[in-house]
Amino acid sequence: MDNIVSLCKRRGFIFQSSAIYGGINGCWDFGPLGVELKNNIKQDWWYTFVRQRDDIVGLDASILMHPDVWKASGHVDEFNDLLVDCKECKKRFREDHFNPEEDCPNKPHCNGEHLSEPRAFNMMLKTSLGASEDTAVHTYLRPETCQSIFVDFKEVYSSSRMKVPFGIAQIGKAFRNEINPRNFIFRSREFEQMEIEFFCKSEDEEPCFETWKHDIWQWYLDIGLTESKLRWYNHPAETLAHYSSRTEDIEFDFPFGWGELQGLANRGTYDLTQHTKHSGKDLSYFDQQTNERFTPSVIEPSAGVDRTALALLCDAYHEEEVEGEKRIVMKLHPRIAPIKAAILPLVKKDGLAELAQDFEKKLRKKFPTFYDQAGAIGRRYRRMDEVGTPFCICLDYDTKDDNTVTIRDRDTMEQIRLPMDDVAAYIEAKCTNERD
Ligand code: GAP
Repeated sequence: MDNIVSLCKRRGFIFQSSAIYGGINGCWDFGPLGVELKNNIKQDWWYTFVRQRDDIVGLDASILMHPDVWKASGHVDEFNDLLVDCKECKKRFREDHFNPEEDCPNKPHCNGEHLSEPRAFNMMLKTSLGASEDTAVHTYLRPETCQSIFVDFKEVYSSSRMKVPFGIAQIGKAFRNEINPRNFIFRSREFEQMEIEFFCKSEDEEPCFETWKHDIWQWYLDIGLTESKLRWYNHPAETLAHYSSRTEDIEFDFPFGWGELQGLANRGTYDLTQHTKHSGKDLSYFDQQTNERFTPSVIEPSAGVDRTALALLCDAYHEEEVEGEKRIVMKLHPRIAPIKAAILPLVKKDGLAELAQDFEKKLRKKFPTFYDQAGAIGRRYRRMDEVGTPFCICLDYDTKDDNTVTIRDRDTMEQIRLPMDDVAAYIEAKCTNERD
């Protein structure tokens, strides 16, 4: 894990937030390559689950919502972690994740006997709206993106004329006052979710759940995660969230152990019923074909952008020996790689640099590119390997004669020669979102 954290910092994927002030726990900044990686994840997810389907529409709702939303959703009363205090070292820990060997500075003393009884701690982050303390509205930064989907359910289905079964998708920030943020960006206090609330009839809950199991698993394969590092975890009744009757998680085998990437929950009619009750506004659905009025059930695939990014980075990281030297290579799927192609003149002189720069300007209209003329070609290849650039295009003296270039494949390091006019289509085909 240390190697991955260090590469992320060194090459501009992920930095600690507010580092010059000593950092702030549980908050991270995505640098120039990190933001491209994250955008690729989000765009791929949106492309797959919204644009390629006619039964899902999108939403981008505000993060701040009426405080009653969080009462109705159950978060004010139920969104708690159980905490224990160590009477010896005075530190506070999550009961379910407490490991005295790792967590407590007083390892030998805090073996459970010196811990307080567990107490509930609400994980929502409070905030106030308005200039004066007396008149301010106190609300919360949303701890999950989906509540606006429930609250806007009627507006969305009536404006878009969607018919049950259908889904509403949203990508956005969520905030949780995690007590022990840890494992790099795995558990943070500010993160992004990609959520779908799929509305169906109650008798269709089970088949709908099974279909979603298949679809979300397939997406992780499509973006390049190794299948043997994925598994399902079926929650027993005692670990189900307050709104769920069934939850299964897709877990990934991170360097620090298996961890949740995405949850798939059967929320039934819980949320629409609660919001109908608390707002006094009817959120039921009228089926014009059957003349039936009912409250739809909800199947919810809920994924983390940051955890997906971390899984991709961990899975992609490889150290290899090439010609007696260590090569660090990030084997990111071309769909997800931040830079798709690097354009490298073999040498700077004899007009090759200008030729390469002109070529790069043409290609950058199609996909993210990078131009590099500094240093020996082998070193430039290595720099691109380290940030996961799948293709390096080299312009050499033959290019001036016959308008062809070499394209080096990051993973096999094999090179092919192609006419310059064919390069964009070749790379676009490799980076396309279309399933094979
Ligand atoms: N609306 C359902 C919901 O929020 P969740 O299992 O609490 O369910 C869904 O969260 C996903 O959000 C998780 O699978 C994970 O990928 C991501 N996530 C949750 N808490 C997180 C945190 N503290 N840091 C990073 N990602 C988190």
